[in-house]
Amino acid sequence: MNIALILAAGSGSRFDLELPKQLFKINGKTILEYSLDVVEELDAIGLTMLVINSAYKEAFLEIIQRYKKPIELCSGGSTRQKSVFNGLKSLEALIPSDEKTKVLIHDSARPFSRTVFFRVLEKSKTENVVVPVVKTKDTIYVINKHRVVDIPNRDTLFNVQTPQGFSFPLILECHRIAEKRQMTSFTDDGSLYTTIKRDQPEVVEGDQMNFKITDKKDMMLAEFCLTSENYDNENPKRLVKKDG
Ligand code: CTP
Ligand code: MG
Repeated sequence: MNIALILAAGSGSRFDLELPKQLFKINGKTILEYSLDVVEELDAIGLTMLVINSAYKEAFLEIIQRYKKPIELCSGGSTRQKSVFNGLKSLEALIPSDEKTKVLIHDSARPFSRTVFFRVLEKSKTENVVVPVVKTKDTIYVINKHRVVDIPNRDTLFNVQTPQGFSFPLILECHRIAEKRQMTSFTDDGSLYTTIKRDQPEVVEGDQMNFKITDKKDMMLAEFCLTSENYDNENPKRLVKKDG
């Protein structure tokens, strides 16, 4: 069985709005629903664990009513890592801890995730840890105290995306070990796995469109992509070309 663990417990401090960004609406639909819609149509996913910010529980309850597939709710924690761990522990209480059960951990702040969900699900049939990445387009400087201290070779630099696919008992064990060792600052689960197990995840190609909405400029870009004029509903990864 495949399970989606959707993270929606953040507060969006870099977004600077009264609402967390995943509850912000574009075209009458919250950012979160764009991810839930993708999961709803994926036959390979049977259950969703939605990790929420409890302060907005009513809003989340209203949203999940619109879906046919089962969605369980649990409360997040003060960091992304804690929210994932809470989600995994809540799953443990619900389902048997079978190696074959795969969990796809996804940031709800990435509304354009359909293509990557497909790719990660496909690779997860044969791999226990699957992480989507995209080659960085920019040159990256490492800067310390206003000085450029390193310029890594761009060909070796990749941006890490979600969803990331894991064997359920494996990623739960990794989170338990991280907590025991008081390693609390992982910002994604592929990094947590790589550090804890000293093992390589399988990387697959991500998608430039699968960007994470972090601040208002990202939201403006998402809004441009999602407004009916620019967005092809039959083929949501493609922007519709204007005449000419
Ligand atoms: N997230 C979460 N629990 C947290 C922090 C983040 O579930 N305690 C989720 C967010 O809801 C988001 C994803 O993890 O979907 C990626 O996090 P990020 O983009 O950093 O979102 P926020 O933490 O909400 O934003 P900020 O860091 O600006 O406060
Ligand atoms: Mg954050």
